[in-house]
Amino acid sequence: MTAKILSAAPVVAQIKKGLITRCEALKKQGVVPSMCVVLVGNSPASMSYIRNKKRMCEEVGAHFTLLHLPEDIETSEFLREIEKLNKDPAIHGIIIQLPVSKQLKDLPLPNLISPVKDIDGFHGINTQNLYSGSTDLSLLLPCTPKGIVNLLRFYQIDPKGKTIVVVGRSLIVGKPLSMLLSNLDATVIQAHSQTHDLPSLTKQADIVISAIGRANFFDQSYFDPKRKSVVIDVGINSLNGKLTGDMDQENIKEVVSAMTPVPGGVGPMTVISLIENLICATEKQSKDSK
Ligand SMILES: NC(=O)c1ccc[n+]([C@@H]2O[C@H](COP(=O)([O-])OP(=O)(O)OC[C@H]3O[C@@H](n4cnc5c(N)ncnc54)[C@H](OP(=O)(O)O)[C@@H]3O)[C@@H](O)[C@H]2O)c1
Repeated sequence: MTAKILSAAPVVAQIKKGLITRCEALKKQGVVPSMCVVLVGNSPASMSYIRNKKRMCEEVGAHFTLLHLPEDIETSEFLREIEKLNKDPAIHGIIIQLPVSKQLKDLPLPNLISPVKDIDGFHGINTQNLYSGSTDLSLLLPCTPKGIVNLLRFYQIDPKGKTIVVVGRSLIVGKPLSMLLSNLDATVIQAHSQTHDLPSLTKQADIVISAIGRANFFDQSYFDPKRKSVVIDVGINSLNGKLTGDMDQENIKEVVSAMTPVPGGVGPMTVISLIENLICATEKQSKDSK
């Protein structure tokens, strides 16, 4: 039997409906949830990511602004701009779009943003929630892990008691995701480029999640057909001009039970989680200001 496709579309539609209602409730109180993306320079890839964020913001009724700064902006000026946003009561969520130009890249970027406006969820205070064992998805958690857990919930795949191999240990995906899944009572194996005999680990897994950024890396040799694992593909790679995940989907579809598509899987879940964080942040700021 061929794998079930865990598409993000129905999950995003369901979450979006709830966010529209919450956004309307905030507007009735005179608060318009507002996100500001800070872009330094003119990277075409960044522009495309920003367009997605803007579109999704507008679809739920939130306000979007772009603060476009010159590539050669001085550090002191950049810091002043971020501080202005931190203090602006009309802005509830701030994102510094990566990459930034080279004079800024050694700044502690996630910690420059006020933790209550940190809708990417990368500020030390927000990641601390994961270290503390929280499973509260209304907190400002990193968006890709939050999106993956929401997707698993929608498809009634409970991480509790499952053996999950997370391949990749970046600060934005692998590490926070492993922690969140462990908080949700999964047994998590965190693999990376120095892991020996990765197939022997993935073959034991109920769920395999890849965030390595290698097109079609995982083929049948990584799966035990008897286990019928669930596969979550975070990878976004360009192969011959086509968007491709880390999983060779054609090759593995007969040996796994379910898999997320690329595109149309984890990507849209990440964007909707960002908007969810914006609404959560606005609700919290609005409550605290009363
Ligand atoms: N869908 C989304 O919303 C979304 C969001 C974020 C990222 N992504 C995509 O997800 C992928 C990963 O992103 P990232 O930012 O986490 O990447 P990253 O910072 O480059 O980290 C990649 C991780 O993969 C590990 N790795 C690389 N090659 C490996 C191999 N052959 N075997 C096992 N592990 C290997 C690395 O191990 P070491 O630590 O040992 O180097 C590292 O931990 C990229 O394709 C990115 O575009 C997608």
